[in-house]
Amino acid sequence: TWTTGNVIEEQVAAIRERVGSSRAICGLSGGVDSAVAAALVQKAIGSQLTCVYVDHGLMRKGETEQVEKDFVAATGVQLKVVDAQERFLAALAGVSDPEQKRKIIGREFIRVFEQAQAEIIAEAEPGEPVEFLVQGTLYPDVVESGGGSGTANIKSHHNVGGLPEDLEFSLIEPLRQLFKDEVRMVGQELGLPDEIVHRQPFPGPGLGIRIVGDITRERLDLLREADAIAREELTAAGLDRDIWQCPVVLLADVRSVGVQGDGRTYGHPIVLRPVSSEDAMTADWTRMPYDVLAKISTRITNEVPDVNRVVLDVTSKPPGTIEWE
Ligand code: XMP
Repeated sequence: TWTTGNVIEEQVAAIRERVGSSRAICGLSGGVDSAVAAALVQKAIGSQLTCVYVDHGLMRKGETEQVEKDFVAATGVQLKVVDAQERFLAALAGVSDPEQKRKIIGREFIRVFEQAQAEIIAEAEPGEPVEFLVQGTLYPDVVESGGGSGTANIKSHHNVGGLPEDLEFSLIEPLRQLFKDEVRMVGQELGLPDEIVHRQPFPGPGLGIRIVGDITRERLDLLREADAIAREELTAAGLDRDIWQCPVVLLADVRSVGVQGDGRTYGHPIVLRPVSSEDAMTADWTRMPYDVLAKISTRITNEVPDVNRVVLDVTSKPPGTIEWE
């Protein structure tokens, strides 16, 4: 019979046997899949695993700390954090085209990750070769990439943790037979923090594709504040499990006139995009309570400088995609 206990036991034994006295590397993205994969491998081989987290500066408020502190505390994993914020900002400066942004973020991510890998390999003791790379591939990913159904590429999806093919590593993919809800159960059993186990989907390119316009540190900080408020209020209202995800988008290239105190303002709109979905292929906009929307709107316009308007996206997918870029 299928139990999370059995899955963990089997995987731990198989990984131990396969890795022997070698070493493994795992990229953490802050998401569920890579976290659970890493925790499983950690359970099997302990300090023979090194995790790498690339801080590209495009994460939401508190997410990097969740990985650095809570995940490490829960698993005891050996973690290498690379602060690449400046590098990503420089590479993205002046770029407003969505596909360009995705390409740049994907490319920089791979470069930074490879650099970290090279350092880990250089530091390894002789007799402990770094031979394995851990990936959080799920069963639906396996089916999708083998299916060859020829669906049109709407957006070039980039998964932090999705790496180039020409690496000289053997892959460990301990979640290959699992669906998302099973992965969450395994994560829970392994004692991972709830915020990680139940995290809603978040795109690899992060807040970079939620700023319509080019990306600057100021814009990121502003969006991070607005997003944190929206998430806080959605959680307080108990809506986390009803809503698939709620992108919060900054229209950085748009300004509108407002009035606050006794002065005229000329600020940016924030878009709320709450969606209901089964698998993100199609989605509907979530009919969420007006009073929660009102609270989010009041707080964002009061607390986030330079934002004077909050709008609700009432488009289903199709025709709109979930993300704005
Ligand atoms: P769209 O915008 O295509 O999004 O309707 C569908 C789902 O995918 C997420 N998304 C991404 N996830 N890398 C990811 O890992 C990406 O580049 C990316 N782009 C979109 C989006 O948040 C939604 O859940």
